[in-house]
Amino acid sequence: MAKIVTVTLNTAIDHCIALRGLGIEETIQAESSAEYLCGKGLNVARGLAALDAQVHCLGFVGEQSAARFQQLDTPGLDVDLLAVAGTTRSNITLFDRSTGSETHIRTSGYSVLQKDCDRLTDQMNCLLSAGDMVVFSGSLPPGAPVDFYQSLINLCHSKGAKSVLDSSGEGLRHGVDAAPWLIKPNLAELETLAGKALEDEPAIINQAKHLTSQGCQWVVVSRGAEGVLAVSREHCWKATVSSVPGQIMTHVGCGDALVAGWVYATLRAGQGENWVQYGVACAVANLFYHEPGRFSQRDVDRLLPLIDITKIVE
Ligand SMILES: Nc1ncnc2c1ncn2[C@@H]1O[C@H](COP(=O)(O)OP(=O)(O)OP(=O)(O)O)[C@@H](O)[C@H]1O
Ligand SMILES: [Mg+2]
Repeated sequence: MAKIVTVTLNTAIDHCIALRGLGIEETIQAESSAEYLCGKGLNVARGLAALDAQVHCLGFVGEQSAARFQQLDTPGLDVDLLAVAGTTRSNITLFDRSTGSETHIRTSGYSVLQKDCDRLTDQMNCLLSAGDMVVFSGSLPPGAPVDFYQSLINLCHSKGAKSVLDSSGEGLRHGVDAAPWLIKPNLAELETLAGKALEDEPAIINQAKHLTSQGCQWVVVSRGAEGVLAVSREHCWKATVSSVPGQIMTHVGCGDALVAGWVYATLRAGQGENWVQYGVACAVANLFYHEPGRFSQRDVDRLLPLIDITKIVE
């Protein structure tokens, strides 16, 4: 049976702190705080498992956190992260309830060595077979070659597996050269890739079309509250939610939920417009939970009728 595999090279422990009024040089009492085991591929995997899919989770973890991350191994998630020397980084999100603003603080964690990258390559070489879907999400950890995603995507394709890439900067730039089946840049990531600002919808679509001409089958551009533009060589769909029916807890991981929903929908046949609708329903569902990918199938079913799909004809 075809497998779904997520690859998280830069796992993270997300600390999410909600407070009211973020002042400088003040002591602030948090309204709530929580810690989640994350990294973008793991967020995607959690979302897929919430939809009842079975996922293999590969990637790296700092050796001191390896036992904690192993606790994610549950019936839906087969967790097989490779432990590397050093600690897993922390991401801190400060969510100010008085303004609705989010402040993100990033720290650095482990670096990987060539031998770590070789171990992961060997592991994927053994695991993958034709028809599998492999999702690469997140940044490259320090020490990884800039073309590491590119070589892993080439490996997937040589095995007859499909690839999805959701990354940024050099990881995305080099990864695109391997022509992944789908990439999911947000607008800022697409602009960095383009080397220029993309001022309006036609400019975004133009840039996405350019990437499809380079071999990506789908370029799915996420634009926060403005929804998604999903572009292939033949089609362009715009998906938005008519209104968000609930209180937004955080925006963290909405892009990962979008990827999870899209991948899940492709397993149930249908076509591009169904995949983008399902992806956006999952992305919006993710807004209601602090933990990325913690939404439920019920949330998604409730949201699906609220997702508007428009075909854009150029
Ligand atoms: N405030 C919002 N209202 C409605 N939909 C939203 C909102 N924020 C996010 N979304 C949905 O989630 C999708 C993905 O969000 P976004 O564009 O922020 O991704 P991202 O920057 O890749 O996020 P991350 O990398 O944290 O997962 C959007 O395209 C949209 O469909
Ligand atoms: Mg993202």
